[in-house]
Amino acid sequence: MTGESAAPHIPVLLEPLLREVAPVSGVWIDGTFGAGGYSRGLVEAGADQVIGIDRDPLAHEMAADWLGDWPKISLVRDNFSNLDKVAPLVDGVVLDLGVSSMQLDQAERGFSFMRDGPLDMRMGQEGRSAADIVNTATEAELADILYIYGEERQSRRVARAIVQDRPFDRTLPLAEMIERVLGRTKPGQAHAATRSFQALRIAVNGEFEALWLGLMAAERALKPGGLLAVVTFHSVEDRMVKRFFQLHGDKKKQVNKYARTLEASEAPFEILTRKAVGPDPDELARNPRARSAKLRVARRTDMTAADISGADIAMPMLRETK
Ligand SMILES: C[S@@+](CC[C@H](N)C(=O)[O-])C[C@H]1O[C@@H](n2cnc3c(N)ncnc32)[C@H](O)[C@@H]1O
Repeated sequence: MTGESAAPHIPVLLEPLLREVAPVSGVWIDGTFGAGGYSRGLVEAGADQVIGIDRDPLAHEMAADWLGDWPKISLVRDNFSNLDKVAPLVDGVVLDLGVSSMQLDQAERGFSFMRDGPLDMRMGQEGRSAADIVNTATEAELADILYIYGEERQSRRVARAIVQDRPFDRTLPLAEMIERVLGRTKPGQAHAATRSFQALRIAVNGEFEALWLGLMAAERALKPGGLLAVVTFHSVEDRMVKRFFQLHGDKKKQVNKYARTLEASEAPFEILTRKAVGPDPDELARNPRARSAKLRVARRTDMTAADISGADIAMPMLRETK
């Protein structure tokens, strides 16, 4: 591993997740392996086999130290949007979205506005970096990225300032510039650059496209009775999962005038968490990072995968919020 030593990632909402999916057995996919906390938790809860997926080489380097002691866990380098190709018939899928503490802690990955590093943010280390986007996107494209992916209300002001001051190659100068534009961060408030950094990370990694494709892939891979559990960290992501569950679930609710809703009897999922599950006070005290986490769980029915084309619906839905 390069650079600073990475702090261990504390799994978020693992206990409530294991409670919701109990009893655990059979083959599971952990689509966001990270430090492997969910994979080990699933094995300890009774899974016969866990196939971990992570697109980041860091997760693979770190797992090399301990994976040999866990014969039921294997690890594949891929995007979880391909999870049904990695394992076409499984009893459960878990996704714990976003970045790990190890990724945030390594300044040279460029995810953190608190540590100076190259403006990179690529989980898979291929494709456009955050610097590529910041330095080449038009002002209008930047404003859209900040607004849609980061819900940054001052997206236009930030985009204008970026275009005026660019190029940016490092994280701290960008974070400081955003703080100058939006005003100094007050004690107890999230840093002024939080939303912009989140937005850039989502754009760099195509996180929303991966999420929607991953949910559809899970629908294809899960056996009847199989379970899908998703943990999100911010409202746009949670809205996407909620919407997928509404469109593909047994809840009869008109969610979009263009979308066909499914009768309960033809839905490929039965929704088990009518309301998202959050952390309890004990978990919050142990791990403040769990603050905004939300868990949603659904059970696959024996209906064939829905013929609703998600990507067409999800992206306009995000734009509708503008
Ligand atoms: C929040 S961490 C998961 C932590 C893990 N549950 C644990 O307990 O250690 C998210 C991980 O998922 C990976 N990841 C995010 N999006 C991905 C995607 N589309 N495909 C594969 N891996 C992804 C990241 O590289 C990161 O390691």
